[in-house]
Amino acid sequence: MRIVGVGHYAPERVVDNHDLEQWLDTSDEWITTRTGMQRRHWTSDSEATSDLALAAAKAALANAGLQASDIDAFIVCTVYPDFLFPATACIVAAKLGAQDKAAFDMEIACSGFIYGLTVASSLIRAGVYKRIVLIGAETLSKLVDRDDRGTAILFGDGAGAVVLEASKEDSFLGSELGSDGTRPELLRVEAGGSRLPMSHAAIDRKADRIHMEGREVFKFAVTKMIDATDKALGKAKLHKSDVDVLIPHQANKRIIDAAMKYLDIPPERCIVNIEEYGNTSAASIPIALSEAVRDGKIATNDIIVFVGFGGGLSWGAVVWKWVA
Ligand code: ACO
Repeated sequence: MRIVGVGHYAPERVVDNHDLEQWLDTSDEWITTRTGMQRRHWTSDSEATSDLALAAAKAALANAGLQASDIDAFIVCTVYPDFLFPATACIVAAKLGAQDKAAFDMEIACSGFIYGLTVASSLIRAGVYKRIVLIGAETLSKLVDRDDRGTAILFGDGAGAVVLEASKEDSFLGSELGSDGTRPELLRVEAGGSRLPMSHAAIDRKADRIHMEGREVFKFAVTKMIDATDKALGKAKLHKSDVDVLIPHQANKRIIDAAMKYLDIPPERCIVNIEEYGNTSAASIPIALSEAVRDGKIATNDIIVFVGFGGGLSWGAVVWKWVA
């Protein structure tokens, strides 16, 4: 089982730090030094998550030289689907002309792609499916409170996709997944689910927007990135020094730097594109992978670690061998 195609898409509209200065009490200097972000892409009103997912899936299929009809299942990892239901993956599969195929969403916040890669790989390794398109797609610019400087600066929109295919040589070497749901309030959208259905009162107090305790999430993120990477490498019977490329969730450059320092992995082995996209949640890792492949930063037999964390709280890492 291996990846045979990658692709990504970001909306045309670019919002840079100076744009945010226009309505928020913030500065380019603060955002750059505290997060590493310079720009992010935001959707237009008419674009939904499935539109971004569709564009990324088409790019990945083209990169693989495959048609949608060659695919057995479509999985979309997202926190902000087109609808509460039906699943966004059903819409994407239908728009690709594959409306008879399996399609489902996975929601585990920014850890979505890591969980999705583990599930999709397992389905292929178990012989259930031969080919799966796995997509991370988000439109969090529509879910943030654009007047909250603690979150509005962080999130961007985009989608990344991979085509996974059964093969003799197996890319999947190990996975470590985890969660801690004891403090969901650290990072959540409170209203709109069965606990607190949407209401005027909820909207008035902005309970329909992302709420995050940034400092708490920061500490958790560094610890779990390190721990998940260590444990996934242990399961793969590999060592930190074996890692050729590390592709982390792009939430904050300082989180990535702190984790890299502890893991003792040189910065040049770490893929970072946070300056261009900000935090695109479940899309950040597949976008970074797609760009890294395009830019020739990944070679055959490279050992890659994908590592992410997010709401839940949740976290995970996958160790992957790049098989040509
Ligand atoms: N511009 C200017 N000042 C700001 C801004 C801003 N955009 N945001 C906060 N500040 C201020 C604060 O009010 C505070 O001021 P005070 O000292 O007068 O109280 C000061 O800057 C420091 O605030 P902190 O919250 O301590 O800043 P910190 O260095 O922690 O950076 C940040 C904040 C960027 C949010 C950081 O905590 C972070 O990255 N946290 C993790 C975020 C993350 O990983 N999220 C994952 C989401 S994944 C998912 O599942 C969706």
